[in-house]
Amino acid sequence: MNVILFGPPGVGKGTQGVRLSEKLGIIQLAMGDLLRAAVKEGSDLGVKAKAFMDAGKLVPDDVVVGMIEERITAADAKAGFLLDGFPRNVPQAEALAAMLDKHGLKIERVIFMDAPESMLLERLSGRLICRACGFGFHRHYSPPREEGCCDRCSGELYQRDDDREEVIAQRLGVYQEQTQPLLDYYSSADGFFKIDAAGEVADVYKALEKAVQG
Ligand code: AP5
Repeated sequence: MNVILFGPPGVGKGTQGVRLSEKLGIIQLAMGDLLRAAVKEGSDLGVKAKAFMDAGKLVPDDVVVGMIEERITAADAKAGFLLDGFPRNVPQAEALAAMLDKHGLKIERVIFMDAPESMLLERLSGRLICRACGFGFHRHYSPPREEGCCDRCSGELYQRDDDREEVIAQRLGVYQEQTQPLLDYYSSADGFFKIDAAGEVADVYKALEKAVQG
C-alpha cells in the first residue's frame, strides 16, 4: 500500500507515520528527515536546503521532487511507502502524479490530519528529537524517562532549529498559503480521508488505522 499523510507542521505526521508504516510493513519517507540527513552530510543539496529550512520556507520543488522519485523507485519501497511531508504544494502533487504514472505506481490512501493552531504551537515548541535515532518526544505529552536522553537508544535529545517561535510562525504561514490548497486538490480523490488529530496519540492512531482499512 502507498499512503500520503499530510497536514500542518506539528500535527503528528512523523509520530503517527512511524507507527503506521511499521504496522503496514512499508517504508516511511519523511521529506523533512531526508532533507535533514542531507544537511548533516554537508552535501551541496544539504547546504542549499538548510537556508530554506532555517527560515521556515519550502525548499525548491526541483530539489525535493528529484529526491522523492529516487526513493519511491528504490528496492526498499517495493512493498509500499508512506509519504510524510511530500507533496507540500500543488506543483509537487502534480509532479508526484506524473512520476507515479511513469513508474506504474498508485496511491491508495491520502490522509489529511488536522488540529487547532494553538495545539500545533504547543506541540512544536515542546518537541524533542533524538540525535542518534530520530525518535520524537514531547516535554509534556511524551517526556523521556530520563531528561535529555532517548528511551530507545540513550541518544542525546535536542530541539530542532526550526522549532523556535519565530520560525514556527513562518512555517504555519507557509502551510496556509501553499499546503492547504492541497485539500481541494485531493479531497475528491479515491481513498481520501480527513482525520481529527487533536486527540491523544493512541486515539489518532486508531482513526488512522480505520482510514487505512477503508
Ligand atoms: P518537516 O520536518 O516535514 O516538518 P513539518 O511538516 O513542519 O512537520 P513536523 O515534523 O514539524 O511535524 P509533524 O507533523 O511530523 O509532527 P510530530 O509528529 O513531530 O519539514 C521541515 C522543513 O523541511 C520544512 O519547513 C521545509 O523547509 C522542508 N521541507 C520538508 N518537506 C518539504 C517539501 N515537500 N517541499 C519543500 N520543502 C520541504 O509531532 C510534533 C510534536 O507533537 C512531537 O513532540 C510529538 O511528540 C507531539 N505529538 C504528536 N502527536 C501528538 C498528540 N496526538 N498529542 C500530543 N502530542 C503529540
